[in-house]
Amino acid sequence: MALSSIPRVSPKSIEYVNKVLDMGIHNAKSSGLDAELEKKFAERFGQQYGILMSNGTVTMQAALLASDIGVGDEVIVPAFTVFMTAGAALFANAIPIVADVDPDTWTLDPKDVERKITSRTRAIIPVSICGLSPDMDPILKLAKEHDIVVIEDNAQCFLGYYKERVVGSMGNFSSFSFQGSKHMTCGEGGILLCENEETATKARKASSLGFSSITAEPGNSTIPKELRCHPSFQRHTSYGHNFLLSELAIALALGEFERIDELVSIRQEAAREFESVIAGCDWLIPQKTPENHVHSYWTYAMRMSRDDIEWSEMRRFFVSLGGDGYYAAYQPVHREPIFPMLSDLVKSNPDRFPHWYEKMPDYKETSCPVWESIQPNIIMLKTKYFSLDSARHQAEILAKTIQHFS
Ligand SMILES: Cc1ncc(COP(=O)(O)O)c(C=O)c1O
Repeated sequence: MALSSIPRVSPKSIEYVNKVLDMGIHNAKSSGLDAELEKKFAERFGQQYGILMSNGTVTMQAALLASDIGVGDEVIVPAFTVFMTAGAALFANAIPIVADVDPDTWTLDPKDVERKITSRTRAIIPVSICGLSPDMDPILKLAKEHDIVVIEDNAQCFLGYYKERVVGSMGNFSSFSFQGSKHMTCGEGGILLCENEETATKARKASSLGFSSITAEPGNSTIPKELRCHPSFQRHTSYGHNFLLSELAIALALGEFERIDELVSIRQEAAREFESVIAGCDWLIPQKTPENHVHSYWTYAMRMSRDDIEWSEMRRFFVSLGGDGYYAAYQPVHREPIFPMLSDLVKSNPDRFPHWYEKMPDYKETSCPVWESIQPNIIMLKTKYFSLDSARHQAEILAKTIQHFS
């Protein structure tokens, strides 16, 4: 059923935040909301364990640490993603290797993944970019054949489906972000899901300061007071970061998660509005959704195929009619200045970067021709509307813009 409008913040979130405030803020253990969210989220996305963390970048870093992936190891990421996917590999001291995307879906191309696998490849991070799952079966097959860990980056994909499987249920790990632009948000936050108890324990320890008493069990991110108070208690038995999510953010996130179907539906409805407008336009080509996929539309992305319209010119016209300023696609990730800068820095500072020296590629030479040729012509329309009327109004403006340039 189509939704007409939903509140900006879930009333349940407000209730849970008030509950936390009424209890006084102690730590993530006190309200039990963390355990509830971790358990329910993992169940909904088809994994055994959920671990809340402070964002959807450190979730992937923790997954790599929990898999003992680091110095000298390679992690394959797609060319169409944000820095953070590749950054997670760097933060674990590993090396991101960038693979190209499919020319129609713009998701990780399994054929290029196969070409990029070496004896050092330890992980693949397929990204459900814009809300659409990559073709996972061939990626999972390659991972199995080469004993490679799969970490799904679903920061942009909630309740997407791939061949009847919910996106998030297929990798050894899957990662979600609750940052402000995402389907559900608590400002900043994220969750890592994983399939087995051993890696869940290691990931939780990696994200919770390596506290000795931590297990995979939902909500078990801090040390119980009875243990902590004793003078002989040894707190830190492994190396861990502080990636904890605050209890207030957890309270907000739980309320949003409880209405995740609505949050996803309204974006899908907004996307349908745009889809119907561009159906008659032969120079705007949407991201292709293969038949056996359900797209969750974090954004409605399309490619402009005309050379005679300058990217900014069309945006200016759209905005002049009251359109919400849309975004271009990110630079191919290996073209973000940090990567060529880093390869040069590593080359000239072997003592400072012994873990990357002679292992990191020169990113200036990385080539992903499919995405490099498509990226300059992408338009990513906002789908985050709380009222369908607002989305319809944007679609009408898009129709007028198309008419103007046709
Ligand atoms: C594809 C993708 N991966 C990872 C991230 C990182 O998430 P966060 O901002 O929560 O660290 C984001 C979000 O910004 C994203 O869009």
